[in-house]
Amino acid sequence: MYPTAILTISDKGYAGEREDRSGAAAREIVEAHGCAVVHYAVLPDERAMIADELKRLADNGMARLILTSGGTGFSKRDLTPEATLDVAERICPGIPEAMRAMSMEKTRRAMLTRAVAAIRGNALIINLPGSPKAVRECLLCVIDEIGHGLDILSGEAGECGGQ
Ligand code: MTE
Repeated sequence: MYPTAILTISDKGYAGEREDRSGAAAREIVEAHGCAVVHYAVLPDERAMIADELKRLADNGMARLILTSGGTGFSKRDLTPEATLDVAERICPGIPEAMRAMSMEKTRRAMLTRAVAAIRGNALIINLPGSPKAVRECLLCVIDEIGHGLDILSGEAGECGGQ
């Protein structure tokens, strides 16, 4: 059971002008896959605030998996990937590559998400696009493999070199 944090990144959500259905979609999926949601918050599209929160959650050991939703597109305020890279120790390109490849079969606009995934300490941060539909599609695409990655990160699983 991996302690999981869910951060919805949305100016409108933060201002209380929009219900956060994306965070709820992420929660439903991670809980169905045996993860415990230990933290949930809605943040505005402010790069420094997002980076600070990612750093805090990773560094205090509170969450092993940190999911963000929103702020991955082309709007001038979409800065979630940049905030993630601000605190990244290592990037994990395969995760967003897989999400985009699968998502292209659903909508050609999947090419427009700039989502990244990265490791900081023992935590894995994954950006998801902002719509509840995109959250479901992208998260379901990668959730089954994430545990193996987290186990290797913490040293609980081998490196698979012999397989
Ligand atoms: N990926 C999936 N699987 N499903 C979607 O509906 N929407 C796309 C893309 N990725 C989408 C998707 C669209 S329309 C946009 S603009 C980008 O994600 C960025 O979304 P964001 O700005 O809400 O993060």
